[in-house]
Amino acid sequence: MSTQTMISLNPKAAKFISSPKNLFINGQFVEAVSGKRFETINPANGQVITTVAEGDKEDINRAVAAARKAFDEGPWPRMKPAERAKILLKFADLVEENVEELAHLDTLDYGQPVGLTTAFASSVIELFRYYAGWATKITGQTIPVSLPGEIFNYTRREAIGVCGQISPWNAPVSVAAMKLAAPLSVGNTIVLKPAEQTPLSALRLAELIQEAGFPDGVVNIVPGFGPTAGAALTQHPDVDKITFTGSTAVGKEIMRSAAGNLKKVTLELGGKSPHIICADADYESALANAANAILFNSGQVCFAGSRLFVEKKIYDNFVSDLIDYTKNYKLGNGFDPSTTLGPLVSEKQKNRVLNYLNIGQQEGAEMLTGGNATSSELADGYYVKPTLLANVRNNMTVAQEEIFGPVVCAMMFDDLDEVIKVANATEYGLGAGICTTDLRKAHKVAHALRTGNVWVNTYNLMDPASPFGGYKQSGLGRENGSASIDTYTQIKSVWIDLN
Ligand code: NAI
Ligand code: MG
Repeated sequence: MSTQTMISLNPKAAKFISSPKNLFINGQFVEAVSGKRFETINPANGQVITTVAEGDKEDINRAVAAARKAFDEGPWPRMKPAERAKILLKFADLVEENVEELAHLDTLDYGQPVGLTTAFASSVIELFRYYAGWATKITGQTIPVSLPGEIFNYTRREAIGVCGQISPWNAPVSVAAMKLAAPLSVGNTIVLKPAEQTPLSALRLAELIQEAGFPDGVVNIVPGFGPTAGAALTQHPDVDKITFTGSTAVGKEIMRSAAGNLKKVTLELGGKSPHIICADADYESALANAANAILFNSGQVCFAGSRLFVEKKIYDNFVSDLIDYTKNYKLGNGFDPSTTLGPLVSEKQKNRVLNYLNIGQQEGAEMLTGGNATSSELADGYYVKPTLLANVRNNMTVAQEEIFGPVVCAMMFDDLDEVIKVANATEYGLGAGICTTDLRKAHKVAHALRTGNVWVNTYNLMDPASPFGGYKQSGLGRENGSASIDTYTQIKSVWIDLN
């Protein structure tokens, strides 16, 4: 890693991190009530980037009160839809002007290469433009009811109210944006709690929210920890809806706390996604696809293709060629332009991943490549090499639990019906992939897998217009597309006696 070639830190990002960061409540940047602060760490070198005010219950209370007032009394839900759209579009323009800064803040905060964080930051622009379009297209129905007399019945789609949004660290700016764009487009107000590992880009979005002209209290952003700030938000009686992306264990906890006032709940949780490589696939592109499915974002992806099923006829060659292919990835600091694989987000996440490698080997899996990155130039960061476990059986811990790192479990199959059964034998159901040149196989498998997303001869694709979410314990509800409009509105039926 030669320092001359490093991409230099965007000057606005440098300025942003040069001062301590605060909570964004009711249009103001404020200290936490407790005065507490926490450090946010750069996982490429373990160094502190800056400190951030640590939100807790009192701060969540203030943020919810601001969001409640903005919803119950403020202009946002009452505004002409075209006016709301204009503010969303202005915000998208501001994000576009500041893409490099946002990307650099995410690379600092969670380590991934600037190319990738730039793509994530750019996706925010498209997402806001997409939902700005929805603002003026929310309609009800007139319904021909069969009651006696002349009765006129119609429906309205109305905003839900205060939305408590909890985002993870694995694509900080883009997942935070997914928690903002759709609910705002239809007139909701928001309290967002970003992940404690990656609060910076969300706080920069807060500044752009101020600049775009959202009324005070419409968006509040309160960094803090899960069991304190996060739990306070999910338990708060004035919050109408919770949307959460993160682990299945926390998702279940959130459902329990949401029961208090019957909050509407949307959950995007973990996965253990199967990726099926048929012998008839285009071999070279299947190799690239298999690598990309598990190594994208260093495997810290809820739909990572972490269970690789390879047809018997090509299994030995494919696995050995995949190992060679992954040797082309270059681990390193995300600001080094030659880096293609960043560190994991934290020391804790690295240890979690390495622990799974031990468990896998104890259960009989064979680690053919990968493991801890021990080279001296990576010693200060939280790096794990692209790892392939072979001799895996689908009932092993490593094939059932989400590892959330660059670790793929390879398994062999001989029969398509059999591999469909094994692929479905997991409590998760988020993503899946198949590589084949046979259209019949592609559609058959796509229909038979119990997952919310299936990619054929590709992987990792998402678009603001297409619904995203999980079957089984991978989640509840959908985000993106019209699905989010359904999620963030409720239907009112209005009856008029015309007699
Ligand atoms: P996590 O589920 O604890 O954290 C995600 C978010 O939830 C963070 O903002 C966190 O502060 C918040 N949170 C945690 N506990 C909470 C609670 N009791 N109430 C309300 N909010 C709470 O995930 P963590 O610990 O960061 O990662 C552990 C594992 O979770 C990963 O190894 C991965 O398997 C999975 N995960 C899955 C993600 C996904 O995209 N589906 C994203 C992040 C983690
Ligand atoms: Mg960080």
